[in-house]
Amino acid sequence: MSLDPTPMEPLVAVEDVHTYYGKSHILHGVSLHVDRGEVVGLLGRNGVGKSTTLKTIMGLVHPNRGKVLFAGKLVTGLPAHKLARLGIGYVPEDRRIFRLLTVMENLRTGLDRHGITEARKQELLDKAFTYFPVLAERRNQAGGTLSGGEQQMLAIARAMMLEPKIILLDEPTEGLMPRMVSQIREIIEVLHREGVAILLVEQNVPLTLEASQRIYIMEKGAVRHHCAASELKVDDAVVHQYLGV
Ligand SMILES: Nc1ncnc2c1ncn2[C@@H]1O[C@H](COP(=O)(O)OP(=O)(O)O)[C@@H](O)[C@H]1O
Ligand SMILES: [Mg+2]
Repeated sequence: MSLDPTPMEPLVAVEDVHTYYGKSHILHGVSLHVDRGEVVGLLGRNGVGKSTTLKTIMGLVHPNRGKVLFAGKLVTGLPAHKLARLGIGYVPEDRRIFRLLTVMENLRTGLDRHGITEARKQELLDKAFTYFPVLAERRNQAGGTLSGGEQQMLAIARAMMLEPKIILLDEPTEGLMPRMVSQIREIIEVLHREGVAILLVEQNVPLTLEASQRIYIMEKGAVRHHCAASELKVDDAVVHQYLGV
């Protein structure tokens, strides 16, 4: 499959997606897109379908109706590992780091692929350790011994090993101390500067408005509002209506 960049089309597009868990109809026609290099926030109260939207993009659940496109190509129904290879990184809410593997071994799981030279592997590891000095300090420590914030950093760093074009981030700051929250905020900025697109699901509204260019707000399995992040910064009413904050 050729993935020549055609600048006019979005990097990821979700079109009228309906997703079910068994008989429960969860997503009722979700449509959204993320352009190349763009940071897009996906907000909404608990249970509205944000995580299910990310899982649908990532091929972890398959929609009954609707499409997912990556760089203009239909990818609906492809398995997650194929989507990862195409350039979609995913950091789930529960982070899924390998608790018994060391930090270094966790990172190496993302480097275990064809067509990557040893020199490139080393460059990617060096980059991760530059961005996350704490991971360098703890490189020989088991993943399970890290703090929540450090595990989140490890999960993001591991996603970066695959050199994704977009990372789907599911509530990366959930349960973290304020200092760690600012570090996650910084890493989103760094990824953005590097040209990596991000679809950011968050409960932290101020952080999301700061980090994102555009915002989608979901309610009951559908997108109800879509605007520039700058608009919401000056319009509390919309945030209050949909998010109750
Ligand atoms: N594996 C599952 N099986 C059945 N229902 C689920 C499953 N995962 C989530 N749900 C339900 O789907 C709805 C949307 O969940 P989710 O996408 O996790 O919402 P959000 O991330 O916005 O909090 C919720 O009502 C939730 O209870
Ligand atoms: Mg969720």
